[in-house]
Amino acid sequence: MKEEDFLNFNEWFYHYVRSFYSDDAFIQQNVILKEEHSIRVCDNVSLIARSENLDAEDYNLARTIALFHDIGRFEQILKYRTFKDSESENHALLGMEILKAAGILSDLPSEEQEIILTAIMNHNIQRIPDGLDQRTLLHSRLIRDADKLDIYQVLTDYYEIKKTSPNPAIDMGLSDISEYSPDLIKDIFANKVLSVKNIRTCNDMKLTRLAWLFDLNFIETFRLVRERGYIDKVINSLPHNREIDGLHTYLKKYMDSILE
Ligand SMILES: [Fe+2]
Repeated sequence: MKEEDFLNFNEWFYHYVRSFYSDDAFIQQNVILKEEHSIRVCDNVSLIARSENLDAEDYNLARTIALFHDIGRFEQILKYRTFKDSESENHALLGMEILKAAGILSDLPSEEQEIILTAIMNHNIQRIPDGLDQRTLLHSRLIRDADKLDIYQVLTDYYEIKKTSPNPAIDMGLSDISEYSPDLIKDIFANKVLSVKNIRTCNDMKLTRLAWLFDLNFIETFRLVRERGYIDKVINSLPHNREIDGLHTYLKKYMDSILE
């Protein structure tokens, strides 16, 4: 894909997102949240793509996927007033439908259209399905890492202002009590990627985010997670006790072992 194609998509995205700007403060706040998220995911994917020496075609393709990966979020928040897929619809599938209906990808080679749609479909599922060709697999991995990096950013920024400006859309409607499930801790010590299906509290959600370390694909992503202090910040937002301290030490060692 050419740079010019990406710039055109950027232009389309800009106007598309503005069509959701609203006088409704809840909608406006969350449209901006996802607009800024999408732009920062483009920046993250650029960093990873550079470190992996992707050629210009794949670099522009990766940035396009990043720009569009959450395109379904705007309609989702407007229609359902939640980002919870289980209480609305799968935002990745919704996004694919929006891109298809807009016909925005139709001038691209069909291989690139397929890669964009498949990478979007794979960005929010528990694991990437088997049997993908190398290029689709690469782009599915890139968007998953770049997205996770910025979700860490959004969450850790949010923990700092949550007391004064709570946002139920970020908390996914979970109860913000000090409890967390001990089973989730056990699973992290077994290097398991956790499902969000059975989580009950905000702290459980934080634990699933910590377990994302076991689902990262690129060294550059680990480097950025460490440089930006995401794990330390999530840990600091959890109750302070020996179990969580132990978890912190374990995760730091895990990151160090990958980055050595
Ligand atoms: Fe998403």
